[in-house]
This record gives sequence, C-alpha cells and structure tokens, in this order.
Amino acid sequence: MSPSARPKNDTFLRALLREPVDYTPVWLMRQAGRYLPEYNETRRRAGSFLNLCKNPQLACEVTLQPLARFELDAAILFSDILTVPDAMGLGLYFADGEGPKFERPLREEWVIRDLTAPDPNVHLRYVMDAVAEIRRALGGSVPLIGFAGSPWTLACYMVEGGSSSDYRTVKTMLYDRPDLLHHILTVTAKAVTDYLNAQIESGAQAVMIFDSWGGALSHAAYREFSLAYMQRIMAGLKRSHDGQRVPCIVFTKGGGQWLEAIADIGCDAVGLDWTTDLGEARRRVGARVALQGNLDPMALFASPDKVAAEARRVLDSFGADAGGENSGGHVFNLGHGISQFTPPENVKVLVDTVHSHSRRGFARG
Ligand code: CP3
Repeated sequence: MSPSARPKNDTFLRALLREPVDYTPVWLMRQAGRYLPEYNETRRRAGSFLNLCKNPQLACEVTLQPLARFELDAAILFSDILTVPDAMGLGLYFADGEGPKFERPLREEWVIRDLTAPDPNVHLRYVMDAVAEIRRALGGSVPLIGFAGSPWTLACYMVEGGSSSDYRTVKTMLYDRPDLLHHILTVTAKAVTDYLNAQIESGAQAVMIFDSWGGALSHAAYREFSLAYMQRIMAGLKRSHDGQRVPCIVFTKGGGQWLEAIADIGCDAVGLDWTTDLGEARRRVGARVALQGNLDPMALFASPDKVAAEARRVLDSFGADAGGENSGGHVFNLGHGISQFTPPENVKVLVDTVHSHSRRGFARG
C-alpha cells in the first residue's frame, strides 16, 4: 500500500508522549538502507550515497521504501548526521568501503576558532526540501522523524576525520585542550539546534539526537562533553509546531548507566541499546520519559521463530500495560542501526510480531 493510502496513524507520537495506544509502535534505525534491494537500485541511479542525500526527490523515494514493505509506524528522513559538519565546510566524502571521511578535519587551533554554525535554510536547504517533500508524500499516514547527531558524536568525526576505533585524536584534545573541544561543541550545539528547528519548521513531527559515541566517554567526561551540550540543544528546540507537540528522543549508545541523567535534560523519550533491560529502565525513570528500543540488531539474523520470540521478549520486558489504557510509553526499535546484511523477510516478522503481541496484551495474551 502506498503510504498516503494508509489511514492516519499517530500511535508513534502518542507513545512518545506517554498517551494511551492500542499497540506498541515500531520503527527501525536505518530502516531505509542497503539491506533493501530497492534502496541499492535507487542509490545506483543517484550515483552515490551523498547524491542520494542531496536530491530531495530521491531522498523521499528511499524514505518511503521500507514503509511500502512493512507496517512501520514512523518514517525517518533519509539523510546523514554528517551533513552538518559538511555544511560547516569540512568536505564530507565517502571512500568506498571505508565509511565517511572529511577532507578538512579539525586539527589547527585557528581553524577551530574560525568555525561557525551554518544557516540550515541556505547550506542545508536540500534537507529542508526533502523534509517538505516527504511530508507531502506521506499525506498524514505516519509521522516523520527528523534527526541530527549529538555535538560530541559529530566532534568525533570532525576531529578524527572519519570513523575511529579508539577516538585517540579527539580524546587527546579532550584531555589536553578541553577549551578547544568545548569551543567545537559550543558551535556544533548551535548548528544542531538551528538545524533541528529548521527541520521542525519544514515538517518534522518528532526529532531524534543520535549520540552514537557518547558511550565511549568516561563517566565524568560524558556529562561535561556530551550530555551538557544535548541539554543545551533541548533548551533551544521548538517544542511545538502547528499546534502539535514535537517530541524529542535522545539516544546515547552505551548510555544505559546514565539513563536518569539523560531523562532529566528535558527530552520526551530516551533511546536504549540492547545492554539495558527495558523494565528496569522504566522503573528507574518512572513517568518522566518514554523509552525507545532495544532489540539487538543481530537477533534479526536468527530464524523467523527466534526473531519473533526475541521481539516478544523485548515487549514483555517493558511490561504488559505498555499497549493498554495506562500506556507506559514504549516505542519498539533496535538498539542500534539495522545491519546491511539483514534478511528483509525477518524485518517483516519483527514488525508484525510487535504489533500482534502488543495488541494481544503481551505475555498474558
Ligand atoms: O535511519 C534511517 O533510515 C535514516 C538514515 C540515516 C543514515 N545515517 C543513512 C545512512 C541515519 C539516521 C544515519 C545516522 C548516522 N550516520 C549515524 C548515527 C546513527 C548510528 O548508526 O549510530 C552515524 C554515526 C552516521 C555516520 C555514517 N554514515 C557512517 C558511520 C556511515 C557508514 C556506515 C556503513 O554502514 O557503511 C554512514 C553512511 C550511511 N548513512 C548509510 C546509510 C543508509 C550507508 C551508505 C551507503 O548507501 O553506502
């Protein structure tokens, strides 16, 4: 079914706001991507991943692809967190098989002191055009999620110049020249705030901050170098648009131990990876926030009956009233992005099981 032919479904937004829902909504991080043959076909037509991101029609096309296959409860803008540092002048490119890289990583003090936050409506116009285009194509069927990277996670890429296994360069800066790193984070937090607000104005109905590498920080450093800047973003975000509340999800991968602190920065929901038990997490945060997560993406490689069993286990761990009158606010997701090698049939099993098991009232049903 084309997305706009579906009846209006705002279950995802209601779960984020901890309002009653009929079942647990589900979407998947990286739901549009290389595990779908139709994505690879569109990407081939675009010529590269970055061309795909920079072409609003094609970005819209791939955003909708997983929704045509699976009964997902939300769409997520097709883009990348690294478009922001690209717009700051660092020169993003993807070397084949090596992941993202920057032509001009942040190394020299004078370059860092010169850094400024870009105007998203000028330098990231293509993202705003994609958001507007996707909203039109969705026709109110399911909500559209906008997103950005956390300042710390973006700084990792900006300073390292690409992916890193040990974050050696950025952590050397953290310990030796915290003033320089704080400057990068301050400018980046402003850039991310402006960027998310522009996405909200263009039609994003919820936003998510990906703090993918927050879990690499020490206990003390996490608050000072990651959480504090996400809190600053929360304080600057437009929280409603067109009379609707725009919920914000904060996801620190590896951040389970800091859950209470994350819940206190003013977000509506906290994303969790698979290392934290959802029921325990829920007891720790009480009614403060909704929770999103947290199936291990590798569980999708098991046989379909095991995939279904693991989906039920995650739902049951959150608790049976999640889909009932006293909604606890659970959005089902993976604990991190879906692998490019995932069999699409198993994604269908997952999505359908989340719906059927939560409608039946969980383990009692
Ligand atoms: O969830 C979605 O469907 C929306 C699209 C999305 C992408 N990247 C598309 C993408 C989102 C939300 C992201 C976020 C992102 N990008 C993060 C945070 C989330 C996370 O996974 O922790 C990070 C760290 C990045 C940076 C990035 N972009 C990396 C490290 C890579 C290479 C990864 C790989 O698997 O090769 C990318 C490229 C990328 N971003 C792809 C997609 C679909 C694959 C590009 C391709 O088609 O070759």
